Amino acid sequence: MSPTPLSLLCALLLTLPLAIVFTITTDIATTTIHPLPTVRHQHPIIKPPTKTTTHSQKPITKPIFPPPPPPFVDNDNDDNDTSLFQLASRVNPNPSPTGAPKKLAFMFLTTGPLPLAPLWELYFNRTKRHNLYNIYIHADPNLKQHDLLYQGVFTNRTVPSKPTRRYTPSLAAAHKRLLAHALLHDPLNYMFALVSPTCIPLHSFDFTYKTLIKSSKSFIEILENEGGAWGRYAARGDTAMLPEVEFGKFRIGSQFSVLTRQHATVAVNDTRIWSKFKLPCLEENVYRCYPEENYFPTLLSMVDRVGCVPATLTFVDWKGRHDGHPHTFHGSEVGPELIRTIRGRRPRYGDEEINGSDVSVRKRGDPFLFARKFGSDTVGKLMDIANDVILRD
Ligand SMILES: *[C@@H]1O[C@H](CO)[C@@H](O)[C@H](O)[C@H]1NC(C)=O
Ligand SMILES: *[C@@H]1O[C@H](CO)[C@@H](O)[C@H](O)[C@H]1NC(C)=O
Ligand SMILES: *[C@@H]1O[C@H](CO)[C@@H](O)[C@H](O)[C@H]1NC(C)=O
Ligand SMILES: *[C@@H]1O[C@H](CO)[C@@H](O)[C@H](O)[C@H]1NC(C)=O
Ligand SMILES: *[C@@H]1O[C@H](CO)[C@@H](O)[C@H](O)[C@H]1NC(C)=O
Repeated sequence: MSPTPLSLLCALLLTLPLAIVFTITTDIATTTIHPLPTVRHQHPIIKPPTKTTTHSQKPITKPIFPPPPPPFVDNDNDDNDTSLFQLASRVNPNPSPTGAPKKLAFMFLTTGPLPLAPLWELYFNRTKRHNLYNIYIHADPNLKQHDLLYQGVFTNRTVPSKPTRRYTPSLAAAHKRLLAHALLHDPLNYMFALVSPTCIPLHSFDFTYKTLIKSSKSFIEILENEGGAWGRYAARGDTAMLPEVEFGKFRIGSQFSVLTRQHATVAVNDTRIWSKFKLPCLEENVYRCYPEENYFPTLLSMVDRVGCVPATLTFVDWKGRHDGHPHTFHGSEVGPELIRTIRGRRPRYGDEEINGSDVSVRKRGDPFLFARKFGSDTVGKLMDIANDVILRD
């Protein structure tokens, strides 16, 4: 009898270190720098939290150019990614067995430790629904002693990882790798949330679970008509993306998405669009090279735009930033008020002052579930308010 896909899958599962896909990439790597002076609008800019909930924004001007990135050589051929993605694309795109409680996959993408781990630990510990989530970490393979770095609920959750570097396709590849491992690991994983080491939860696990499990759509920012889109599109050469990706189909959005199982399988199954996004950018265009912010929004808008809520559920604060990095909250800013203010905001679609606005997102009124970026010095303050504020609904 020839092996069935199921038996192949079982064989794979046996060979994988009990796959817990936390992708951990430092947030540095996952934070986009938007240095192009021509860019009129790169990300929603949000007013200071002390103001009311209006959402007006100002264009980012006078970006500061970051220092050149170190050269990046991906010595790994991606053969074993290819076979991993192939295997993962054959899983059942619906959670199975039918009727069993669906699960959330939290995929931490990091290159170093998880400084906010104590808060996440509490988040996961405080639920009685311990069988309703899985944690996966994508960490720098050159970091030794993952077993010492990632403890408690994070113990043993690292998936086979490769180095990541911003301005390269490696961050998008890490995201795909996390999706693949999470798909293969648990047929009940239903929603796949990417988490950075500077992300915090904004609500309890139970609240997050209820919100995500009832959705049949992915939450992924998908912006069109963005300033700077051509620069990003042409970063590999004016015609390099053709014919697979025409400029009119190119999209921009935060990497921090929550994808349905269906869309996770679409992403690991896709080789056609990926063949373009995985090309390196030309050296002179390296600061326009954010494949992780373009690949997933472009792919999903081409394949199933109506299956997506085109906004991210991860709050980020662009107020007053000119260097392409969102605001990093520090300990002195953290308190109940900050959490309540962020909770009072609602995800939306791009900059309302230009044509990206989509009232349908506003009308849904989905809550933010996560927020970034929180410096490692905030962990004490966050823990102080964890039980009474952050994890209280
Ligand atoms: C980690 O996972 C491996 C492989 O599944 C298992 O043998 C080991 O006992 C686990 N270690 C801990 C500390 O859970
Ligand atoms: C891919 O290669 C890496 C490093 O050689 C290894 O750790 C990993 O298990 C491989 N993954 C698969 C799916 O074969
Ligand atoms: C969470 O639970 C784990 C395992 O039950 C335990 O080791 C850890 O101390 C707990 N952490 C917190 C913050 O309660
Ligand atoms: C995977 O991609 C192939 C080729 O594009 C397509 O024929 C197939 O239907 C896809 N499978 C899934 C599960 O999306
Ligand atoms: C917005 O859309 C309208 C109609 O599609 C178009 O005429 C206008 O130029 C667009 N404005 C911007 C700022 O893109």
